[in-house]
Amino acid sequence: MSRMIFAHRGLSGRYPENTMAAFEAALQTGAHGIELDVQLSKDGQLVIIHDEEVNRTTDGTGYIRDFKYEDIKQLDAGSWFNKASYGIAIPTLDEVFEWATKQNNHLMINVELKNDVIRYEGMEEKVLALINRYGISDRIILSSFNPESLRKIRMLDSDIQIGYLILGMQKNAVTVAENIGANAIHCEAVFALSEYGQKAIERGLPLRVYTINTLSEGEKLLAAGTEVIMTDYPDLFMQK
Ligand code: G3P
Ligand code: CA
Repeated sequence: MSRMIFAHRGLSGRYPENTMAAFEAALQTGAHGIELDVQLSKDGQLVIIHDEEVNRTTDGTGYIRDFKYEDIKQLDAGSWFNKASYGIAIPTLDEVFEWATKQNNHLMINVELKNDVIRYEGMEEKVLALINRYGISDRIILSSFNPESLRKIRMLDSDIQIGYLILGMQKNAVTVAENIGANAIHCEAVFALSEYGQKAIERGLPLRVYTINTLSEGEKLLAAGTEVIMTDYPDLFMQK
């Protein structure tokens, strides 16, 4: 991969995050990929939402794991962002893959498994099964803050791309990533610009950096050898 721009939660600076509106808008910017977050409903549906609870980004309250999908899809995931987005629903991963396999959509998809706060039993198997059903493994990157989950994914699938997701400065990230069998490290700028970030690149672990919303910071990171910039404003980067 050469240098690429991924839309973090879709074009989330201008549309409600993790919705089809944000993903479609990201596609229109010409971005190379999207990043999205997956949680699991009570009845085992993979749904796209960042938080474990629906409170911040919908008109409901409570944990995703306590909702059946038929109730999740009634929630309004747009109004919190702006009035024009009223009534936009929380999508499923299945819906995103269906959309992504339409003509003229060649986006890479970084699926972040949000199983570090709540450990969703069977989430890895479900995500891999869906990827295989759509036959899009070459366009998928799986990431998580939970190394155990990534180890499990690597055990189940020796080829799928895995990004080990870290927060801030984690000095043992290369060791852990190599131990998992990850293909890359997904990190913040502080790590990418450090000697540890540079060591990761030297060891063949590309860096994909979140969440970068200014061109000046993006340029600094690209000069330091960053492979992917994840941004809420891919339109800014793609205009350049
Ligand atoms: O995957 C990179 C980034 O999205 C991780 O942080 O909290 O935005 O999901 P967060
Ligand atoms: Ca994320």
